[in-house]
Amino acid sequence: MTWIDCDSQHLEAIRCIFNEAIVTSTALYDYQPRSPETMQVWWAAKQAGHYPVIGVLSDTGDLMGFASYGPFRTFPAYKYTVEHSVYVDSRFRGRGLGRQLLERAILAAEAQGYHAMVGVIDADNAVSVALHESLGFHRCGEMREVGFKFGRWLNLVIYQKLLSVPDAPVDG
Ligand SMILES: CC(C)(COP(=O)(O)OP(=O)(O)OC[C@H]1O[C@@H](n2cnc3c(N)ncnc32)[C@H](O)[C@@H]1OP(=O)(O)O)[C@@H](O)C(=O)NCCC(=O)NCCS
Repeated sequence: MTWIDCDSQHLEAIRCIFNEAIVTSTALYDYQPRSPETMQVWWAAKQAGHYPVIGVLSDTGDLMGFASYGPFRTFPAYKYTVEHSVYVDSRFRGRGLGRQLLERAILAAEAQGYHAMVGVIDADNAVSVALHESLGFHRCGEMREVGFKFGRWLNLVIYQKLLSVPDAPVDG
């Protein structure tokens, strides 16, 4: 297995992983699979914000999973906070990859001087909740019935982790 910084050649594999989660689960609150064009917009936003997309390849070169982050909210004073995501191809789950991807995302956010990481998780996503709790994320709250998918209301849980940087945060 090889750890990589994803580039645009991995977009199609990322799209497949997203789309499997969209059609089979409430991990993502999309109804429709994402198009290649949507992924181009997603990728452009990662590039523009200098947000990493951390990937892990199998020995045969398949993308097994990825983690990334982006803005939490767009108002300027949120500049030290990111919202992250982590996805593992269903064929490779339960072998510690999600944990290692999220650990690497935390290190990357720290290296880039972010102070807070936020995970917004469907309340029924027991694996993601367990993963976040095991990596020291603190549960900040629950929002009930803010989503509707597969004919039922969905609840969100919000997790955060504070990082020990930056040393000298500034306004503006
Ligand atoms: C959530 C996800 C990224 C976790 O990745 P993974 O590689 O399957 O998870 P790992 O093997 O690294 O396990 C991480 C933790 O989850 C928990 N876990 C793993 N599989 C589990 C299972 N089947 N049931 C309950 N908990 C489980 C364990 O607590 C484990 O912690 P440990 O290392 O202390 O034992 C992955 O399952 C996934 O991509 N799911 C679909 C998309 C998704 O939900 N993304 C997160 C959106 S918020």
